[in-house]
Parts: sequence; structure tokens; C-alpha cells
Amino acid sequence: MNRAFGAVLVAILATASAPSAAGATRAAPDGAPGAARAGQVVTYDQHSVMLDGRRILVQGAEMHYFRLPSPDLWRDVLEKIRAGGFNTVSLYFDWAYHSPKRGVYDFTGVRDVDRLLRMIDEMGMWAIVRPGPYINAETTGGGFPAWLKLVPGKARTSAPGYTAAYTEWLDHINPIIARHQVTRGGSVLMYNVENEYQANTDAAYMQALQDKARADGIDVPIVTNVCCDAGSWASTWGSGLGAVQIPGVDDYPQSFDCANAETAWGPWGEGVTERIRPDAPGYAAEYQAGAIDLGDTGYERCRELTGPEYMRFFYKNNAITSGSTLFSYYMTFGGTNWGWLAQPNDVYTSYDYGAAITEGRQLTAKYDEFKRQGYFLTALAPLAKTDPATAPTSDSPALTAVARSNPDTGTQFVLLRHTDRAAASDDSGVLDWSTPDGRYRVPVRVVGKDAKILVAGYDLGGQRLVWSTSEIMTHAAIGGRDVAVLYGTEATGGATVLRYPARPRVRVLDGEVTSTYDPATGDLRLDYRHEGLARVEISGGGRRSALLLLGTHATVSPFWRMETDAGPVLVRGTSLVRSATVTGAAVRLRADTAAPGQIEVFAPARRLSVNGQPVGVRPTPSGSLVGRLPGPDRVRLPRLTGWRTQVEAPEAAPGFDDSRWVVADKTTSLSPYQPNTLPVLYADDYGYHYGNVWYRGRFTATGTETALKLNAITGRRGSYLVWLNGRYLGAARGGVEDDSVPNPDPGPGTFAIPDGLLTAGKPAVLSVLVENMGHNDDWTVDDVRMRQPRGLTGAALIGSGAALSWRIQGARGGEDLTDRARGPLNNGGLYGERHGWSLPGYPDGSWRRVGSLAGTPVAPGVTWYRTTFGLDLPRGQDTSVALRFAEPPPAGHRVMLFLNGWQLGLYGGGGMGPQTDFVLPAGLLRHNGTNTLALAVTAREASELGAVSLVSLGTQRGGVPVLPVHSPAFR
Ligand code: GAL
Repeated sequence: MNRAFGAVLVAILATASAPSAAGATRAAPDGAPGAARAGQVVTYDQHSVMLDGRRILVQGAEMHYFRLPSPDLWRDVLEKIRAGGFNTVSLYFDWAYHSPKRGVYDFTGVRDVDRLLRMIDEMGMWAIVRPGPYINAETTGGGFPAWLKLVPGKARTSAPGYTAAYTEWLDHINPIIARHQVTRGGSVLMYNVENEYQANTDAAYMQALQDKARADGIDVPIVTNVCCDAGSWASTWGSGLGAVQIPGVDDYPQSFDCANAETAWGPWGEGVTERIRPDAPGYAAEYQAGAIDLGDTGYERCRELTGPEYMRFFYKNNAITSGSTLFSYYMTFGGTNWGWLAQPNDVYTSYDYGAAITEGRQLTAKYDEFKRQGYFLTALAPLAKTDPATAPTSDSPALTAVARSNPDTGTQFVLLRHTDRAAASDDSGVLDWSTPDGRYRVPVRVVGKDAKILVAGYDLGGQRLVWSTSEIMTHAAIGGRDVAVLYGTEATGGATVLRYPARPRVRVLDGEVTSTYDPATGDLRLDYRHEGLARVEISGGGRRSALLLLGTHATVSPFWRMETDAGPVLVRGTSLVRSATVTGAAVRLRADTAAPGQIEVFAPARRLSVNGQPVGVRPTPSGSLVGRLPGPDRVRLPRLTGWRTQVEAPEAAPGFDDSRWVVADKTTSLSPYQPNTLPVLYADDYGYHYGNVWYRGRFTATGTETALKLNAITGRRGSYLVWLNGRYLGAARGGVEDDSVPNPDPGPGTFAIPDGLLTAGKPAVLSVLVENMGHNDDWTVDDVRMRQPRGLTGAALIGSGAALSWRIQGARGGEDLTDRARGPLNNGGLYGERHGWSLPGYPDGSWRRVGSLAGTPVAPGVTWYRTTFGLDLPRGQDTSVALRFAEPPPAGHRVMLFLNGWQLGLYGGGGMGPQTDFVLPAGLLRHNGTNTLALAVTAREASELGAVSLVSLGTQRGGVPVLPVHSPAFR
């Protein structure tokens, strides 16, 4: 392929059958897929990607289907993403999530990614697909299935063993992706190979991934996301082997230090995306939109770290300074590390990420900021092709302008910001601005940490915008006139100049706006303060009429824009608009309301219905329709009562029958990690990859034993519990990722043997329960780290040379899954898990009753609690329910929470993390039916349980229909 010049033809019209567009609720915006479901030709040049020759600007939102195990909620989140001004979703595909065992793959139920891509196709969005094979993403193994630890050959290289393994994954995932490409009428626009694979690694491997994709029918541009060496994988680097077509940059300028949310302002730099290849558009592959909570401060702090101020400054700065036209924001919806999905070092159950859409699917102030920016970026076509331009000069050294312009239209985009990035002052100045329509002195002001993108010389529909000091949120031709939404900082002055061949008529419908017309230039200048929502109608003057809506950040937030076959509609007042259609004189919306209130609709229509219900409306002087909508019905959540309890861990008793457990007697392992003692006790080597594992070690006592010395690696937050002849000896913390350096004494525990517990010449049994918190990622391409074992790495008797013989037990079936619906990451090897105690329908009638959990004592070991509760939540309403535990988490024990058999959280002290609310996603939670909760409590010391309750994280009238997710019961 010719990579050297100009537009590179990367795809041809494919003839394969297009995915069905059935169920599409709206036509797509200009240039978006879905409008016509025919295949499109994808090309690109240094400015942008083009579809059938038309330039597009990609505003992408990263979300992970595997962190939301309820397919109908994928639609909910996707609709929220689309309504928030995004036209694209960026998706990792997690190999480990689909493959419990070498050669075994599952793409059904919560793993049905074909269904996910179909939804995206139908919604008229684009997708950037990122199947790895390595994805990082704070998932266990960085997306590598744990069975890969048993495959020879260094991962993320051309090693034959690894190649054969990943080829298997790509054999499965690539064909699914291929049939959803835009070239075949679908949504997949770009294909991302590997993840932050830095230079000087294995170029042949990088090339092989691409060759494999092409062989599997991938014909859209191949991209990659680079982290720390921007030159990687561009054709200009080295021989070009492994180079991708559009290299992208990952930028996390705010760092992950959520504890310092108040003071952080780009500790990791200004975050401007570099253009890596001169012939490809700038691509912000992962631009920071939240943070992992490394310091366990809670995700609200991460949301502050990456809040609207940060977004305004850094995103706008990046857009104009880099001129990129491909953006993707990591994360826009984070979701949940349910089951054993988490990589243990960096995250806990919640992957909320401080994102714009919370883990409980609620919209935040960050979402509003995305909407303001996304609507702007996707509505102004000249942005898709800009070059650096001469910026206006400012008479205030405190203010700096940076400009780009579209070479065809001349439209200018001027970034206005403080010269000193850190400045939080209130500065005014005058720009000397040579616009395409003449030279002007333009008064500007920047208050606090802010940045604006001002526009000049723009054909705003049928109007000519000369310049404005207000920012444009969006504009649309509705009913034969232009409706534009502009905004500025609350209580600051604003001015907008439009040009007319003749004096137009100006009617101020609302607010205080003055206007002057200069017949010499044709300039109509409007002056106003950004306050409330002013409305100005302009008619005559030789152009079609226009309605300008002039607001503030707050007053333009409630606007929604939706595309219909009859053109765009604007809606104001609901908490979300999901879709709109216009038929004849009627506009039909699907929308959510969090409270009763007014709805205003700008549409070529006289009648309105919302969620299928007619809404009484009256026309307004603004040419819109106004009506009232009800809010949600009150939600009552039941108290959790009727608990029953049962102590488990029979494995601790000396007489327990472990004859069917796997004998652990290996003396070698593929892991380069040296065991402290033999045999090798690494859980993975015996096929137990996730969750808890039990070990039972037998020996004949000599009577001279004084203590036990154990070593175990669990990953951060993990611990292990030890019994000898049924007597609990205590617990210790397991080794962590850093121990892969390697540490000769990982997760050490020395346990004194009480006098009289052992008798010389008699058999003794050691029982050890080890948590496996998940597998290290492979960010550093480091085989030692990647293959760091889980489980015991050593066991020795102090004071005696008696030999130990071992058996091991983990998740039921090991790699041969017994619960295919919930998949490989849901369960580990607790006795209760192996015997169905976590499942709905388990016969717990003989278990002891407990009135309330609060204050209930738990003894060291494992104890289960179960209850059921009925819900009858209002229908046609979306209530996000969570299970709330006491704060702060207890030091002595931790709780594994199962809802209808799905493991949805790990709560507790001892470094488990700060989380006390655990989202129970609809679909897993039966909103109108009976639910089963099971809590497995592992106590390292005697302690007391706290209160547990159901709470609502938010409720709206509206939502999407959610069908129950298949959740097999106890049989
Ligand atoms: C990036 C990586 C992502 C994720 C992110 C931090 O470097 O590509 O997968 O790990 O950091 O959340």
C-alpha cells in the first residue's frame, strides 16, 4: 500500500451483507453511518478521515461492554453517549472475558459483542474497535486469559506459542468485527492493534497483527494508541515494519492522583496530541476523561480531578493546538469490575473512573461539558479540515490566542486562554482580529481556569457569522430558519456580529440585547450579558430568518440535539433525549425526566409525544412548542430482612474428604518465578485461574514443629487464611505485583504452632485459603511480571523436616466452566461457590435465621448470608439501585457479594478499597420480581457485620426496556 502521499485509499466497497438497520430510531447525522446502510469508502489525509469523500470529525467515547453485564443497558449507555454529543464509541474487546480455556470461546449473552456492534450500527454511530490482543485497561491480565500463563513464548512478541494463542482469539473476534465495518454498511470505522506497544519492541509482531486483520477482512484504517514514544509505529520510524496507518496518542495530563484534585493542573504536561504521521490526521486515541483511583480516595475525587474546568481548558487547547479530528475520551462510562475482572494493582470493584456517566449510569456536570463541546465539534463542518493560522493578537499579555482556519472556507477557530496555564485570574483584553470579513477589535475576557473556542467567518446555516465572543454550542436549520445556541461565562459581556446585505429586523424575545447595524459593512452587532437565556429573532436583511439563543454554561446545558429524517430538532428541559422522529406535524421523543417540568421543542411540528404519551403543547413566540412533563414516580426500596446464615470452610477440618481434589505435585512451571519450596503450588498451573483457592497439605508430625512458614502471592488487596488440624492459626497478606521483581520472600506469613496441636507420628493437615485478586497486566512486556504466579509459592515447617504432600481446589470445573452464562471470571473456589450457595434457588431453609446483619458477629473463616427480596419498581422508569454497606469498611473481614448468582463486588477493609456502594445493574437485578442476595464473608479475625441496605442512585421516568439477563438457578 502506498503510504507516502495524500489521501490513502484504505477500503473498497465491500459486497458482504450489511447488518440489519431494523429498530433504528432515527436517521443519522450528515456523514454518519446508518443514514444509508450501504458500504462506504474510507479514506483519510492529514486533516481527517473521509467517508465517500466527506470529511468527518470523530468525537469518541470509550466504554467497556465487559464492565456492564446487561446487554439492554448497553443501549442505555450508548444512547446517553450519543445524546452527549459523541458520534463514536471506542471499545476494547477483552480476550480473557470470552475464553475460559484454550480453544474455548463464548460470544453469547453478556458476551454477545455482535449484538453490541449491531446496536451501534443501528444507532448511526461509529466504532473504534480495540481487540488487543493485549488491552491493558486495568482488567485481569490486561485482557490476557490466565491460561496464557501456561503457554510457552513471551507474550506480546512474535514467539510461536504466543502467536498460536492470540491467533485463536483473533480467529474468533475479527470476523465479528469485520461484518460491522463501515465498508459493509456497519459502524466500525477504525481497527486498533495492540495497546501502548512502545518502540524498540517487536515490529514483526506488530506487523503480523495487521496482516492477520487484513487476512480476516478488516479493510478500515488500522490504528494504534501509543503512550510514551510518539514516534512508534509511524512509517517514518525504522523500516516501517509494523507501522500503522493512523497512530494515535494517549494523553493523561491530569495524572491519576485523585487526592490532589484541587491543585492538579496538568502535572503530566499540557496534553496536546502530537501528529505522528504527516499523512494522517491527529488522533487523540485515549484522552483523559477520568482517572483510576490509585490512592483509594474514591471516584468522586477523580471526577473533580477531571471536572468541567479541566475539560474546558485541556480539551479545547488540544483541539485547536493539535488540529486533531479524531478524539476518544477514556473513560466516558467506566462501569464495574464485576467478578474477578479487575487487575488488582490499580483498581477495585468499581471502575466508575470519575467519568462523565457514573457507574450507576447517571449524568454529571462533566457530561454537560462534553455535550457543549461535542455538539460544537460535530456541528461545524469546517473544523474537519484546518491548518494553523495567524492568531489575533491580544493587548493583554495575560491572554493568548491560538488559531486555525479552514483553507476552503476561511473559517477561523480561535482558542482563547490564559497565557500562563496555571492562571486562575480574571483577565480582560482586546483582540486585534483579522477575520475573513475584515479586521476588528474584539473585547474578550477569561475568568478563572477556562478556555474558549471563538469562531469567525463562518456560514452558520443561512447566516454569515463575522465573529462572536460567545461560544457556539450548536446550530441547526429547523422549519426553514436557523436556530443557534451560543453561550459564555455567567455574568460576562458577549458580542456577536452577523452580516446582512440589508438591514434586518431584530426582535429581542427575551433578555437584554442591544443591536446596531452598520450599513457600510452590513454588520449587525448584538451586545448582551451572558445571563439566563436571551432570545433574539432576526428576520429580513436578505437572508432566511434566525433565532439566536444566548445563554450561559448552565442555561444551555438542558438543550438536546437529535437528528431526524426531517432534519435536526432541539429540545430543552428534559434530563435526557434518547431519540426523536418527526412524522407529518408530530414530533415523537424518547426522553427521560428526573423531575416534573417544562419541555420546549424546536422542531418542524405542531404536536408532541414523549415516550408514547401525547403532551399538550402551546406555540411560543420563539417558534417552539412548550408543554409539561411528569417526573418519575416515587421509588420505595424494601429493607433487607429474612437473612439466613451458614458457616462453611469444611476444608479446614482434618477429616474433610479431599480425595477428588487435584494432586499438586509439579516440580516445574513455565513461570520464570522461582517457587520458595517444592512442589510448585501455583494455582494457574493446576487450571485454577480466578478467585479463591484452597490447599490442603498433609504431613506426619515429628512433634518438633514450632511454626509454619508460608509464602503466597495474591495481588494487591489479597490475603490468605491458615488452619492446622482444624485450628485457625491466622492470616497474612499476599504478595503483590512488585514482588515479581522477583522478591525472594513474597507475602510471607509465619504461624506459630500451638502446643499440643501436633502429635509425633500422627498425620496432620494444613488447610490454606488463598485469595487470587486477579492477574498482573503486561504493560511493560515483561514475562516475569506477566507470569507472576497466584496462590502459595512456598510452605515449610519450622523445627521439622517432615515432607508435605498437597492437593488443590479452585473454581468448580476449573477451566471447564460449569456456569457458562456468568462465565470464567464470576466464581472462585469457596466451598459455597462450588456448591451453589451463591445461586438463586439454593435450598437454604435449614440455615440459621438472622434478624439483621448489623451487629452480627462473624468468626474467623468463611460464613455465608442469604436473603431474597421482591421489587416492584415503577415501570417505564429507570431506577439505578445499589447495595450500600457500612462506612468505613471493616478491618477484620471482607464480603463477596452475589446478586442472583452474579458476583458484583468485593467490600471490606484490609486494603480492599474505599467502596461502600455496589451497583446492581438492571437486568441482573429484577426490577419487578424476586432477587437473591448471597454474601460470602471471609473473616481474618472475629468482627461484626455492619448494616446493608438497598439505595437508589437516581431515578428517571423513561429509560430503556431491560430484559432479565439469563441467570441459571441452583439445580
Ligand atoms: C492507558 C491504557 C489504558 C488504561 C489507561 C489508564 O495507558 O492504554 O488501557 O490502562 O492507561 O486507565
